[in-house]
Amino acid sequence: MTCSPPGLTMSDRPALFAKMRSEPGLCRVEPFGAYAAARYEDAAAILKDPRCFSSEALAVTAEPAWLGPNPVAQSMLSMDPPRHTPLRALVTRAFGPAGMARLEAQVRKVSEALAEAAVRQGEVELVDAFTFVLPRDIIGAMLGLDPSTFSEFKRWSTNMGLISSARTPEQYEAVRATVREMKDYLSEVIQARRRQPGEDMVSDLLQAEVEGQKLTDEQFLSFLFLLLPAGMETTTQLLGNSVLMLARHPEQLERMRADKTHIPRFIEEVLRYEPPTQLSFRLAVQDVELSGTKVPAGSLVLGLVGSANRDERVFEQPERFLPGRDKATQHLSFGYGVHFCLGAQLARLEARLGLEALVSRISGLRLRSPEVQWLSGFTIHGPEALPVELIPARS
Ligand code: HEM
Repeated sequence: MTCSPPGLTMSDRPALFAKMRSEPGLCRVEPFGAYAAARYEDAAAILKDPRCFSSEALAVTAEPAWLGPNPVAQSMLSMDPPRHTPLRALVTRAFGPAGMARLEAQVRKVSEALAEAAVRQGEVELVDAFTFVLPRDIIGAMLGLDPSTFSEFKRWSTNMGLISSARTPEQYEAVRATVREMKDYLSEVIQARRRQPGEDMVSDLLQAEVEGQKLTDEQFLSFLFLLLPAGMETTTQLLGNSVLMLARHPEQLERMRADKTHIPRFIEEVLRYEPPTQLSFRLAVQDVELSGTKVPAGSLVLGLVGSANRDERVFEQPERFLPGRDKATQHLSFGYGVHFCLGAQLARLEARLGLEALVSRISGLRLRSPEVQWLSGFTIHGPEALPVELIPARS
């Protein structure tokens, strides 16, 4: 089966994905001539089998000919076991339950200050005022970065997200400039922490060892290149998609205001229904057959998370938004297998405390435009801007 690109307009996506799922096997898609797995079982099979489907695909997609070397291409996200294993072990500790417990008070403080200011404004653009700033300030604090430098992060994050969809000379140059600027900035951060360690994740990781090995500066730069946009971009979309679902389902706002233990259920369903990352790339290492489709070695393969999460074979009434549904956490939005998102607990923590701060202060939320302006790329999924009216709750 051959299909058009995986939905450049958001409104077409559910129907296109449903059509792709209607037949067994993988589907050829442009622009990469890739083999796309639209059914849950196939997408999960691809993500969990690095021996057949290599994450080195990221090295191909992150370094198009017009860009040249990009440290993300050498990050853990683009490595397979056994190379991936010690790196993952080294950085995992910082993201575990103890690390999250340490961060909780700070996430709450930032969430409350941002929500307070946004509600005071009433009519507000929430991406700039809330959904981007919250994850930006938290990842900045985790890495011990200077807040006066944060103003560049939005542009960097947007431009890094353009790599697979950039088409114009201006976009190419914007991405090239961003890679240069981030390299200079993050190399300086590493050097500064080597000279004078602080109480932050960069300093901790510079000291950490696995099997007697420390991270080299090059490995460290690649990790920070991955972490800085990963920590901001996807969580921004989770918060943004949550705000959209709140506007569409006012009864959910009521429910969360009455019972904040409902918030994690709501977040999990936003993750399933509108996943911030719509697909993951892999490279077929050898000729392989999956659900009847022969995939030649060297082919680009896509796990279509946006489609798998709505697979009727796994989720009942998948096109309905039903927080608290059965199999609520079985979505593939944080990946599956060895690359399962390192920041999943952090993203859930930020979304929970961010929404708690917002919903406790409002009795209603209206979109100021009925048309949602979605981000233009096809991998990262969320609203580009969120002009809303927030109706304060009576205290
Ligand atoms: C809602 C928010 C987020 C979503 C939807 C998300 C999604 C994902 C997905 C799908 C993967 C696996 C990609 C693959 O298999 O190819 C991944 C990996 C990763 N994520 Fe996230 N992510 C989110 C938030 C975060 C945050 C907050 C951080 C860090 C601060 C983070 C850091 C990472 C890292 C380091 C990896 C690579 C893990 C590895 O290669 O072993 N993510 N993420």
